[in-house]
Amino acid sequence: DSADKGEYRHYMLKEIYEQPKVIKATMEGRVTASRVLEQALGTEAGKLLENVRHVQIIACGTSYHAGMVARYWIEELAGVPCSVEVASEFRYRKHVIQPDTLFLCISQSGETADTLAALRQAKAAGFRAALAICNVPGSSLVRESDLVIMTQAGPEIGVASTKAFTTQLTALLLFTLALARHNGLSEQQEAEIIAAIHQLPGQVEQVLALDSDIAELARAFMDKNHSLFLGRGAMYPVAQEGALKLKEISYIHAEAYPAGELKHGPLALVDSEMPVVTVAPNNDLVEKLKSNLEEVRARGGELFVFADKAAEVKAGDGIHVLQIPPVHPITAPIVYTVPLQLLSYHVAVLKGTDVDQPRNLAKSVTVE
Ligand code: G6P
Repeated sequence: DSADKGEYRHYMLKEIYEQPKVIKATMEGRVTASRVLEQALGTEAGKLLENVRHVQIIACGTSYHAGMVARYWIEELAGVPCSVEVASEFRYRKHVIQPDTLFLCISQSGETADTLAALRQAKAAGFRAALAICNVPGSSLVRESDLVIMTQAGPEIGVASTKAFTTQLTALLLFTLALARHNGLSEQQEAEIIAAIHQLPGQVEQVLALDSDIAELARAFMDKNHSLFLGRGAMYPVAQEGALKLKEISYIHAEAYPAGELKHGPLALVDSEMPVVTVAPNNDLVEKLKSNLEEVRARGGELFVFADKAAEVKAGDGIHVLQIPPVHPITAPIVYTVPLQLLSYHVAVLKGTDVDQPRNLAKSVTVE
């Protein structure tokens, strides 16, 4: 039962370990072996998605990072332009609304004040419709949106969001495929990605089996004050989410950068006191990423790389490599999030912080 820690020391760890199950639950009834069941996303989904020409995503915190990943998917698979913004910025500026724009809010709780305010504004502003991706049935966000895709994460107690994020990504990928079908994605491409989605629970299980290796790596962070997280493409928001987790629960300053931006500033900070964490699935950016890693190494930075074997990142002096099972490039953001969650968790445990209730933070920010 979700309100019970069971055999786990913290809710956060329990929730990390629930991911294979809740990702599966979020797929359930919404996919066959090769297709997304569009009507399972809402009876009106087909009619609505057919005419969407632009997507505006709004969220806060971890949910914002899910939106950032979705932008890569939506533009790559559906060819539909997509903008993503944090709710607290969106609600206080003038914006230009493109015709036929779908407004998409992502929120675990469905009660975040800024996200709700942005939705209420959007409804008055002429968006085509409002879609919510949410984890709490009956929440304000669910009640006030035109179309809802529920994540099936179950109650999330730990303030640092984990299973809500990976189920948001799962729901967002299903949404993207449904949208992409109206925009030229072939049946064969859809089937290939659905097959990759079906592999997710097993792949996340395999990453969870690396837990004790990740706990070992965590030791190197205990006495550090700063860290950098690097990724490219859709792995950049995964790096952002990894950095957010470390900040939230271990109180170590963590900054995420798209790896290609290193040379425009953060490289000046790199020395042996600045661990650099990188996510390196085998995709068409991996060679570029590897040359970024060499730049870090040449400045004495210690690297912690989560990598696909085929990426051929060699472990060595100052380079720690943990192998992640081979994954499809589209689903890689979901799988590669998990080692970063475990890394932050173990650093926080070693530091003795209050993992489930980090200082100054709330699970749901219902006031501005
Ligand atoms: C708070 C929580 C975060 C969460 C964010 C957005 O800051 O501590 O974990 O990501 O709110 O919450 P929501 O419920 O809208 O996803």
